[in-house]
Amino acid sequence: MRHSIRSNTPNAASAGHRDPRPAATNAGTPDVRDQERAILVGILLPDTKADLRDPLGELKALAESAGVAIAGQTIQKRTAYAAGHAIGKGKIEEVAELIQAVGANLVIFDNDLLPRQIRNLEEAWRVKVIDRTELILDIFATHARSRQAQLQVELAQLEYTAPRLRGMWQHLERVAGAGGGTAAGAVGGVGTRGPGERQIEIDRRLVRKRISHLREQLAEIDQRKIREVRARRDQYTVSVVGYTNAGKSTLMNRLTPAGVYAADRLFATLDTKTAKWDLGDGRSALLSDTVGFIRDLPPTLVASFRATLEEAIHADLLLHVVDISSPVAFAQMQAVDEVLKSIGCDTIPQITLLNKVDCMDDASMAELLARHRRECCLRISALTGQGMDELRQEVLQRMQGRELTAVVQMPYSTSGKLLAELQRYGEVGERRYLEDMVEVDLRINRDQFAQLRARYHDLVAKEVRAEGQVGDRAASQECDGPNPPDGSASP
Ligand code: GTP
Repeated sequence: MRHSIRSNTPNAASAGHRDPRPAATNAGTPDVRDQERAILVGILLPDTKADLRDPLGELKALAESAGVAIAGQTIQKRTAYAAGHAIGKGKIEEVAELIQAVGANLVIFDNDLLPRQIRNLEEAWRVKVIDRTELILDIFATHARSRQAQLQVELAQLEYTAPRLRGMWQHLERVAGAGGGTAAGAVGGVGTRGPGERQIEIDRRLVRKRISHLREQLAEIDQRKIREVRARRDQYTVSVVGYTNAGKSTLMNRLTPAGVYAADRLFATLDTKTAKWDLGDGRSALLSDTVGFIRDLPPTLVASFRATLEEAIHADLLLHVVDISSPVAFAQMQAVDEVLKSIGCDTIPQITLLNKVDCMDDASMAELLARHRRECCLRISALTGQGMDELRQEVLQRMQGRELTAVVQMPYSTSGKLLAELQRYGEVGERRYLEDMVEVDLRINRDQFAQLRARYHDLVAKEVRAEGQVGDRAASQECDGPNPPDGSASP
């Protein structure tokens, strides 16, 4: 691991922000790089969204993505979190023994804990404890490449940490007041209650200042991004969304020359890319990759990645990629639906792509999902290229549903300018030079045509005909399976 978890807030030092909780566990070992060996702990509440067949499978993949070695794991079923430590006494003892037995120096929870609970557990186990949100934020921090992504992650991290600062400093005060040595064998001793309190204020003020500075910087970048996205309104835009590791980047690379990084790692790519997708027949669309989704995506992350998701918000069509080889494909699909709803994208037409059919042992999951889905479902393999022709056809049909053909006329005096505009936004066919008019055949997006006609009164429409007329419901007849109107096929 290149860094130690919870020590990588970008520019945190510049904010004067520091994590006052114990950072290391092996006494006398200041540098914990390459040493993080974690025990994974999951608390299964009655409403858990975890895959009950493998409740910690996703946390394991997340931890591995963060470069941590997994040394052990355990779960506890509870009706509610225990107030002080989140888990019960017996489980605390069991984990303490496990930590000793395997030499772990980190415990990662699959749940989000209160600062108080983390503090109590660190005291009990004398190792660092982090929760699910901290782990996800850590992965985002290490994978952020662009300036925008780095700022977004830093903002999310600070917003998550800021409300917790008081609890952390109180922890130090209490430990210092008790005689110096901290439970986890780190900081303390010198600080007393007074300086501790002042430090809280200094830290909070610096964090607040940094947060508002980050917001300002991001607002500028966001505005630019929003303008960029809106400037593409004249083109048909398709956004690829899906659970992390579903195969979005692989699909993007298959369809366009974008060259997006694809890897068998959660959140391999955070930066969105847009590239031209040649659909054949002289048509093209703009295809955009978006950040991967995950269940219980930290709300601070969703908020700070909103501009990145702007691509999806303004898309004409969403391609929702689902890893059909995953036993939890249905839950992942639902998690993505929830995020899409939370950012107001649930009304955008969607095609569900059941991906990775090349490594699917059993076709029943695909059948079940296709039957359950209201939207059109296609089975594809982004890796082998299976299903790409059907996908192109489907997208072409949808594009045509938004297009019209027309015969338009314009006077010679303005024809130069008008023809250039028509060529920019549509396809100009045969031209006929009449006595006082130029007449052309045109195929164009209907919204674009309406805008051009409103702008140029010289443009006279003779014959206007809708193309294709393929709406969403009609298109879905072409796709997998009839959908039960009541969605009764829920797996
Ligand atoms: P994030 O960046 O985490 O959001 O992931 P992503 O959705 O962009 O997934 P990515 O394209 O990086 O693919 C994840 C892994 O799945 C890689 O190892 C790909 O090679 C693999 N993969 C993608 N599509 C297919 C497919 O159709 N078949 C198989 N067998 N593997 C695939």
